[in-house]
Amino acid sequence: MSTTKVLVTGGQGQLGVTLRQTVPEGLEAVYVDVDALDITRLEAVEEFVGRLKPEVIINAAAYTAVDKAESDEAAAYRVNCTGIANLAIAAAANKARLLHVSTDFVFDGTAGRPYLPDAPVSPLGVYGRSKAAGEQELRKYLPDHSVIVRTAWLYSAVGGNFMKTMLKLMAEREQLRVVCDQVGTPTGANTLAQTLWILAFRPELTGIYHCTDAGVASWYDFAQAIREEGETAGILSPSAALLEPVNTSEYPTPARRPYYSVLDKTSLWRDLGITPIHWRRNLRNIIAEYRSSM
Ligand SMILES: NC(=O)c1ccc[n+]([C@@H]2O[C@H](COP(=O)([O-])OP(=O)(O)OC[C@H]3O[C@@H](n4cnc5c(N)ncnc54)[C@H](OP(=O)(O)O)[C@@H]3O)[C@@H](O)[C@H]2O)c1
Repeated sequence: MSTTKVLVTGGQGQLGVTLRQTVPEGLEAVYVDVDALDITRLEAVEEFVGRLKPEVIINAAAYTAVDKAESDEAAAYRVNCTGIANLAIAAAANKARLLHVSTDFVFDGTAGRPYLPDAPVSPLGVYGRSKAAGEQELRKYLPDHSVIVRTAWLYSAVGGNFMKTMLKLMAEREQLRVVCDQVGTPTGANTLAQTLWILAFRPELTGIYHCTDAGVASWYDFAQAIREEGETAGILSPSAALLEPVNTSEYPTPARRPYYSVLDKTSLWRDLGITPIHWRRNLRNIIAEYRSSM
């Protein structure tokens, strides 16, 4: 049986590591991060892709520091926009497909209902604008051989993320303020990785898909669930920090964030035959995984 060769960029990030942990049979995957392949350097990308000749490239590389991007616009655009153009140019030259990951932050959060993949984008900050610009580059250079997968509120047992930050702070403090008026969907990186692997086997699929776990939550809901599941798993004691819900205005950050960024996943679940998992159930799985890695 012939195997499909896949190049994963950003291989040491949260998604990159989760892809490595979940790679299915029938794929030969090569993982590189910025030290081995800096996607902002066109010549390096062309040389690497030309030599490896992958059938599929999964781009898990990104500039993801949402607040820092506000004062570091050029760097965010270099990775999230120019980097995508570079990958798309190299993919086109080598007849590879490109599966690219984008974000709910391309939306402004004023729709008041889940965003469909073809909803107009309207980012509020530099990070979201740079990701939206990257999507445009992909459509320009590789419209027929690429998929944009937008995700949101990503977390896992590896890398830096909200779940791990909350577990640490709750163990250290008596009280913790968490924003309750921003609503979205916590999403296990395992859900996104499994989706990308399915897409790697489905060359007929192109365009934009939305991929998050099922359900809706505020950051406060998510934090409260982390507290409960953390205690059940024996990571937190009953005296862990109590959570205080606060509004965004009481917790100012450099970047503005969408108030409501729930994504509509109907087309993904239908076209890929995926059975959705509720975020709360996936949180339990990921906390158990984190507990066993401690
Ligand atoms: N995390 C979330 O909540 C979230 C939400 C929505 C969408 N997303 C999207 O999901 C994807 C995966 O996110 P993640 O959480 O896995 O991010 P991550 O943990 O920050 O991983 C990104 C990886 O890309 C690497 N990288 C940065 N610049 C690079 C370059 N020039 N060339 C090659 N690699 C480079 C990073 O290396 P360094 O660490 O050395 O910089 C890091 O290993 C991204 O596209 C992100 O925009 C994430």
